[in-house]
Amino acid sequence: MTMTYVKLRRLYSRFWEERGHKEVPPIPLVPQNDPTTLFTGSGMQQLVPYLLGEVHPLGKRLYNIQRCLRAQDIEEVGDNRHDTFFEMLGNWSLGDYFKKEQLFWFWDFLTRELGLPKEKLYVTVFSGDEKNHLPPDNESMEIWKKLGVPENHIYKYGANKNWWSRAGEPRNMPVAEPGGPDSEVFYEFVSVPHDRKFGEKCHPNCDCGRYLEIGNSVFMQYKKTDKGFEELPKKNVDFGGGLERITMALEDKNDLFETNLFQKIIAALEKLTGKKYQDNKKEMRIIADHIKSSVFLIKEGVYPSNKEQGYVLRRLLRKTSLNLHKIGVDVKKMFSLEEICRSVIDTYGEIYFDTKQDVNSITPIIQLEMEKFGKALTRGIQEIKNTPDKELENKAFYFYQSYGLPLEIIEEIFDSQNKKVDKKIFREQFEKHRDLSRNASSGKFKGGLADHAEQTIKYHTATHLLHQALFDVIGQDIRQEGSNITSERLRFDFYSMKKPSAEDMVEVEAIINQKIKDSLNVEFKIIPKNEALKIGAKSFFREKYPDTVKVYFIGDYSKEFCGGPHVKNTKEIGSLKIFKFEKIGNNLFRVYAR
Ligand code: ALA
Repeated sequence: MTMTYVKLRRLYSRFWEERGHKEVPPIPLVPQNDPTTLFTGSGMQQLVPYLLGEVHPLGKRLYNIQRCLRAQDIEEVGDNRHDTFFEMLGNWSLGDYFKKEQLFWFWDFLTRELGLPKEKLYVTVFSGDEKNHLPPDNESMEIWKKLGVPENHIYKYGANKNWWSRAGEPRNMPVAEPGGPDSEVFYEFVSVPHDRKFGEKCHPNCDCGRYLEIGNSVFMQYKKTDKGFEELPKKNVDFGGGLERITMALEDKNDLFETNLFQKIIAALEKLTGKKYQDNKKEMRIIADHIKSSVFLIKEGVYPSNKEQGYVLRRLLRKTSLNLHKIGVDVKKMFSLEEICRSVIDTYGEIYFDTKQDVNSITPIIQLEMEKFGKALTRGIQEIKNTPDKELENKAFYFYQSYGLPLEIIEEIFDSQNKKVDKKIFREQFEKHRDLSRNASSGKFKGGLADHAEQTIKYHTATHLLHQALFDVIGQDIRQEGSNITSERLRFDFYSMKKPSAEDMVEVEAIINQKIKDSLNVEFKIIPKNEALKIGAKSFFREKYPDTVKVYFIGDYSKEFCGGPHVKNTKEIGSLKIFKFEKIGNNLFRVYAR
């Protein structure tokens, strides 16, 4: 671990603690309670119910440092700033302070605590969205001016740049999604000349590389409804800043891969390959980033597979192989990846790893996957070389199946071999057969609620009843493995030593409907974690909970650690029918109900 990294984390935590904030424990990279995504992609993900008005057990002022993975950015990696794994510095106000405090504090953190030069900082504000009747954010504009930011360092942009929600712009947001205008801070690398390819004039959101966004204060004050945007009951702040990007600014390096967060990894890679970073930047950036993400994913229990998170891990490792091949490494031969895995683990040290043990347990998984793929890749490339160009279009799925070459890798091989292939036809062919990848990207998710529609909330409460009923009928060893709730149905996965019978499930259903009929009140209490465990509240064994937790009670029938939201009384659920029950793995079962 390097000093800059440790110090930055420490300064950030101290800064918010001093201002009355409590740390929300970061959630795993594979979220257990969010069906909308395969990976944790921002710090606010676990806070959605609270941003929508639920009470948070730790209060109204929160912060954390959240490890994140953005699989959708895989194809972007290779330039000076994109990465798939990153850490997000976050702070939140849940209906407490708002724009004035937030902008002042973040500015103070950057300029006073970190000492970034003011003349290199630029800010942006929302210029409004007439179509959606969303006004410009003049308030933030005035606050920045009062803080002494000169007018020529303040830029206004529309909803495509200065609006934030998980779904992006206002028009893309689903009903019940929270969002709001945001204000970003950019750092200027004065040594990087503007590249005219990106437009006549340079400005903070220009993509030429001169400016880098280092933090985003989102003013979460709206919720989308059928009728348009409605103000949320409480106005929230949702701040997210990239630790990696702030590091780039602190070190004044416009190449993320030259900062202390990648130095060891690049050095290990240079040693492994015998090549220089300066001559192979794009490939080495991809390899370094992908190995880093893979090490983190494996640490959190993901294995290479053809589904969901495992498939993303597999793609990361396969792209690593391909890029090693591109810089001239013979990937069909065995070579030890221990040093490169160790370089990732050393960079983050005890913040995330148990060095010796993790090097020993993570390396073989990466090694095995890459060795297998390295051989297949070498054979696949040979066959592509030997196949006449015009036959290649029809062979997309064949290459995928025989050699495990994902589409984008096959296309890269075509390019590197100068093969003339109509990529449109090639892709159409592939799509006909792409069940596997569809499975992986649409995802079968592990946890939680898809949205906060009325029906989804009903199913959420019904899920708690189901959990308890399974426990009562099948046995005390049953353990929740995940849930996925949409407004169409609920889905619940659980572990059980014994296979439940059809009669068991009939009984479970009868109990749930009885509890619905009993009109039980649903209430929550915020209590110390130890007390919650003592009274037997059910928790998710993989999740790390804070010392104070929120527990939902359904009459005296069920108690569970949960953020909400829920119905007020079980009678609102109406009734519930289990329409599918299946075994999905060793001692793993899945129930669907609606
Ligand atoms: N949630 C906001 C983001 O991810 C802060 O940028």
